[in-house]
Amino acid sequence: MNQPSRNEQARQFYNAAGTLSTDFSFMNYGFAPLSAELSGSTEPEKYCLQLYRQLIGGTPLQGKRVVEVSCGRGGGAAHVAQGFGPADYLGIDISENNLTLASKRFPGVKNLRFQQGNAEALPLESGTIDVVLNVEASHLYDNPAKFFAEVHRVLVPGGRFLHVDLHWQDKDPPAMIAAAGFRVDEVVDITKNVVRALQEDSERREALVMTFPENMRKDFRDWSGVKDFRAYNRLKNGEWLYRITRATR
Ligand SMILES: C[S@@+](CC[C@H](N)C(=O)[O-])C[C@H]1O[C@@H](n2cnc3c(N)ncnc32)[C@H](O)[C@@H]1O
Repeated sequence: MNQPSRNEQARQFYNAAGTLSTDFSFMNYGFAPLSAELSGSTEPEKYCLQLYRQLIGGTPLQGKRVVEVSCGRGGGAAHVAQGFGPADYLGIDISENNLTLASKRFPGVKNLRFQQGNAEALPLESGTIDVVLNVEASHLYDNPAKFFAEVHRVLVPGGRFLHVDLHWQDKDPPAMIAAAGFRVDEVVDITKNVVRALQEDSERREALVMTFPENMRKDFRDWSGVKDFRAYNRLKNGEWLYRITRATR
């Protein structure tokens, strides 16, 4: 039997995770240090939230049509939709269970919608979006170049692409984004900030792992960035880089 595509594997993995634990609404490795506003906050997922704020930086979103590709369980989408004033914020994800969790967790936010879709074939008209966000997801796609071309297609001229992801040393997302026709404005290596976030957030991550069935905990420690497990180690020893790219169409 043929191996399912990476996109399909991601869909199945995140759908399954969505049935195992509903105790979190972010699935990224986070950013530290926290801003003054977040450092005193009791928000349990504040490091993950900080990653979204860091990615946006000073990019104006007020009144804009914003799309987040691979919004996961919608924690970042809800925060940005409510706090940054976009006219419309559409979260797209390949996992329907993620979107069910997102809609249940964040009902009634007027400018926020969710829709199932594949990053490599966005369900959007060409030239209709002002800003596209993509957080810790493009490394999972079958063909990231196809995704970057899709982002270029759906953005208006002058539209912004805000991308942040981990990648192996020999991969170069900013170069791929440039090859899709974008002007790359800024590339920021935040690997050390992500490692620090995982150190500071490790206890919470371990507590979440403990809510999973015992035979799955090792895999989830590796995957979720618990200190001294696989993802953490790859970032700490530099096998993986974690970079922000801000680009203009
Ligand atoms: C590591 S999670 C990050 C989720 C979210 N951005 C966050 O920070 O919480 C990666 C997400 O990518 C989604 N995904 C994977 N492949 C996809 C594809 N081909 N199209 C759309 N979403 C995809 C997964 O379902 C998952 O929600």
